[in-house]
Amino acid sequence: MVDLLKRTDFGASVNVKGWVRTRRGNKQVNFIALNDGSTIKSVQVVVDLAQFSEDVLKLVTTGACLSVNGLLVESPGQGQQAEIHAKEIEILGAADPATYPLQKKGHTLEYLREIAHLRPRTNTFGAVFRIRHHMSMAIHTFFHERGFFYFHTPIITASDCEGAGQMFQVTTLNLYDLKKDDQGSIDYSNDFYGRQASLTVSGQLEGELGAMALGSIYTFGPTFRAENSNTPRHLSEFWMIEPEVAFNEIEENMQLAEDFIKYCVQWALDHCKDDLDFLASMYDKELIERLNFVLANDFVRLTYTEGVSILEEAVKNGQSFEYPVFWGADLAAEHERYLVEKHFKRPVILTDYPKEIKSFYMKQNDDGKTVRGMDVLFPKIGEIIGGSQREEDLEKLTRRAEEMGVPTKDIWWYLETRKFGTAPHSGFGLGFERLILFVTGMANIRDVIPFPRTPRNADF
Ligand code: 4AD
Ligand code: MG
Repeated sequence: MVDLLKRTDFGASVNVKGWVRTRRGNKQVNFIALNDGSTIKSVQVVVDLAQFSEDVLKLVTTGACLSVNGLLVESPGQGQQAEIHAKEIEILGAADPATYPLQKKGHTLEYLREIAHLRPRTNTFGAVFRIRHHMSMAIHTFFHERGFFYFHTPIITASDCEGAGQMFQVTTLNLYDLKKDDQGSIDYSNDFYGRQASLTVSGQLEGELGAMALGSIYTFGPTFRAENSNTPRHLSEFWMIEPEVAFNEIEENMQLAEDFIKYCVQWALDHCKDDLDFLASMYDKELIERLNFVLANDFVRLTYTEGVSILEEAVKNGQSFEYPVFWGADLAAEHERYLVEKHFKRPVILTDYPKEIKSFYMKQNDDGKTVRGMDVLFPKIGEIIGGSQREEDLEKLTRRAEEMGVPTKDIWWYLETRKFGTAPHSGFGLGFERLILFVTGMANIRDVIPFPRTPRNADF
């Protein structure tokens, strides 16, 4: 359809297949808007009712799937250059008007989440999922062009990369008949892997192994977090892109992050114009402006300490936050968004966080208090990227892991990269759905992944 709508060889015989969006007209002529998902635009099929039997026509209802043979004709109507004058209509699949849930336009996004099996057929979700595809292509192209290798890290793992204890366990043990040892602990020696295993929260640890051999790698895969966060920005199954680069220090890591996001945003403007225009008109009038703004401006870079000072100053001047700000506190989305939307009015990269609120693997600064972590903060989203320079010193890394209660015996292989030919290296993780939120202007992360997984929800 995307190609057909551009054709100008009027008079040609064509076939189109797709789903009926609307049907309107009078007693002589009907107009069917048929959409096959390849573009937001539907093709207009013009039907001279006298030429078709009532048996066929009565099945041409919203949601039905048709194959239409006809003539390509220059359209007199506005908004399309070609339409099809139907010669034959075959009903591939009828859709009972009494029960098809997508009868009218203007269903709420909440309602559409309950029919996630059908919502890809709406203009909104067609647009979002096409953009999601294009963003995947942008990501692979960006890294491929820069000589990065796509490195596949495991989904099932026995280590907790972020050390936050938010892992989904993977087991084949019979939960009705769990064997425990004398201490009452579960005996995993009979489990599938002979030990406790989980779904990964991040491919970083294995990604670092790749970077310490191939130089520059990236991962792009599903990650899982059993955190009980019911917010518009959290999923329990989300996709993450994690580049890892040998010899990069934190400054180069920041530059890579900024170049990467800008490349993706530019790609969306170049490849997804129709869908972006539709989403802008429906949900977010400032969408295109915001995308262009991100492209045109450098991201602000400052330390966590400077960021906290700005927030404390704001509080002194009457700004109120739900959560308190003080040096050492983990910043909440409201604090991040204040810095981005109110104070600097552009994307911000915060660095050098207190070591207590960051993971064990981040490179320790000489002050003994902070680590070389970085978060990229975005308008409307808050944290879109989290990353760091990694601690390359075996002794410092081991000590920090022990201090934070990370079982070093489980990550002996990770620690060996520091034992054998260690090198400075850095990387970060971009939450794919948070990028899609930003690019589409959608407000809820449940609406940018086809089948969202959130606490108490694994339908479809
Ligand atoms: O900041 P996070 O936890 O960092 C890591 O996992 C590092 N291992 C990344 C690295 O350095 N290679 O997560 C990275 C990003 C966040 O900035 C956010 O965009 C996204 O992943 N993210 C989530 N997205 C949706 N739902 C969730 N529950 C998310 N948790 C993190
Ligand atoms: Mg983070």
